Amino acid sequence: MKPRDRLRIAMQKSGRLTDPAQELLARCGLKFRQSRDKLFCFGEGEPVDLLLVRDDDIPGLIAEGVCDMGIVGRNVLREYQYSHPEEGVALDELRPLGFGRCRLSIALPQDEAYDSPSQLNGQRIATSYPGLLGEWLRSNGVGAKVVYLAGSVEIAPRLGTADAICDLVSSGATLVANQLRETAILVESEAVLAGRSELPTDERGEIAELLLRRLDGVIQVRDSRLILLQAPRDALAEITSLLPGLPVPTLTAVDGAPDQVVVQALCAGSVSWRQLEDMKRAGARDMLVLPVEKMLA
Ligand code: PRP
Ligand code: ZN
Repeated sequence: MKPRDRLRIAMQKSGRLTDPAQELLARCGLKFRQSRDKLFCFGEGEPVDLLLVRDDDIPGLIAEGVCDMGIVGRNVLREYQYSHPEEGVALDELRPLGFGRCRLSIALPQDEAYDSPSQLNGQRIATSYPGLLGEWLRSNGVGAKVVYLAGSVEIAPRLGTADAICDLVSSGATLVANQLRETAILVESEAVLAGRSELPTDERGEIAELLLRRLDGVIQVRDSRLILLQAPRDALAEITSLLPGLPVPTLTAVDGAPDQVVVQALCAGSVSWRQLEDMKRAGARDMLVLPVEKMLA
């Protein structure tokens, strides 16, 4: 293969991961010129190009060296590793990306009780993930028949071609619409940056490191919130213990109110209404939660 001096990233051409993946790369300062067939996008500025493909093809493209990295669901990456053990060992999950969350789960018809995996002995389970399902069945000592289906897995029980399914669940709407019930979770999935365990040693390695550093910065900012509130000094310990990620807050005295203090804290992760309500009960007031745009220590 001809050596390349530009980094090539594979991502889903159209699907749930496409928009958030493109937005993430844009935040990393990558800009692309769309080619006419939109399969290959040339990167302007940084030497990073995009290949838009079917998500299931991404791990193979990285393993074969056609691409250096890919943005893909953890479920797709792991499935490739189980079904291609030789090529799969060279691949790694470089970063979890925090979007496209879903689960790979076993689901049964709603009216069937479920208490343990052993109940699936002798059953037919339809799935597009034979590698992951096979591994789960082995590790649970269950002898079930895996029925491979490339799509529309959820209708198999109604058609009588399977007794249960093993498929992705996100909102759960597909299961409800097909009178199925989630019974066991095999994999908690989200979009990940996949790549080879060893970065290329040429220029592409340097570009990859630059990209990983920017990605870390973007993820850190995206997942940070600045919280401002006022609190009585004697409630400080309790309120601080309720701050997401337990940051060390900055305290400012309030003029004319020596028993009060303004608390400023950078929290890792979002702050829920429930957490705010807990802090309010502990004595906090005038709470503000702000997104963070940039950070430089
Ligand atoms: C998945 C899965 C289900 C659906 C579940 O398909 O196969 O059909 O999503 O989502 P829900 O719980 O929100 O209803 P997807 O649309 O991702 O397409 P793919 O499996 O063909 O990639
Ligand atoms: Zn797919």
